[in-house]
Amino acid sequence: MQAADEVPFITTPDHVTLSMLELAGVGASDHLIDLGSGDGRIVITAAKRFGASGLGVEIVPDLVARSIVTARQAGVEQRTEFRVQDLFTTDLSAATVITMYLLPEVNLALRPRLQQLAPGTRIVSHDWDLGDWLPDASRTIEVPDKPVGREKLSRLYLWVVPAQVNGVWCGTGAQQRLQLTVRQQHQRFDASLSRSGEAALNLLGRIDGTRLVALQGGAAAASPWLWVAAGAELHLAQTGDAAWSPAGARFVRAPESGCPAP
Ligand SMILES: C[S@@+](CC[C@H](N)C(=O)[O-])C[C@H]1O[C@@H](n2cnc3c(N)ncnc32)[C@H](O)[C@@H]1O
Repeated sequence: MQAADEVPFITTPDHVTLSMLELAGVGASDHLIDLGSGDGRIVITAAKRFGASGLGVEIVPDLVARSIVTARQAGVEQRTEFRVQDLFTTDLSAATVITMYLLPEVNLALRPRLQQLAPGTRIVSHDWDLGDWLPDASRTIEVPDKPVGREKLSRLYLWVVPAQVNGVWCGTGAQQRLQLTVRQQHQRFDASLSRSGEAALNLLGRIDGTRLVALQGGAAAASPWLWVAAGAELHLAQTGDAAWSPAGARFVRAPESGCPAP
């Protein structure tokens, strides 16, 4: 086991658990993984109150055994699973929601793996953030009987995993003359869109899961441009300037040699 051995067993109070699940917008189509699931309450509540399926991974076998009994008593044993397993070696790819109540250094150690999750996956952390990967939303909740910390407060943070789009993209087919260069910083990006032989357009935008919304020069009054990340492609769904390429253009990552000459 790695550093998370140091993470003590402290439960998330029930009203905070509900708030975490609400913040993530958990629903019946979600599969939630709680990293360090303790007595299983987050997974069990997600299944019982929101109809989600879930997996809890926990290194303390007694807590896993207790979680399985509680899930059965709550009538959600079909939709829940608990495993004695190290969170650092757990396959997270099936998750649509990740929850965690760990420690700052453990969150940071997990961060590279969280960033590789499918775009749109929601991550909710109790009390600790992810460094300079700023959250999309946060909440502060009063917890008068909190056993740790001087402030009797819990902080909740939500991230929606953004598509990883940093780099150069080339238009395909009839749009071969287009080149999109994206510089991404987590959910924010700036980009230049060029059409051979013309001055490039500068765009500033945000990434919400698979959706890249950008404004020309960041101007609030301008019409937004919209790309949707679909697998290995970026699809231009809406242009912010009628004089520019038609919506529907598809972009693929540039090879090492750069975009092919049209
Ligand atoms: C603060 S408790 C949170 C429990 C539960 N998620 C909740 O919010 O009520 C953190 C849990 O992580 C578990 N843990 C620590 N290191 C772990 C590891 N490497 N893999 C899996 N679980 C771990 C601890 O045993 C503890 O039960």
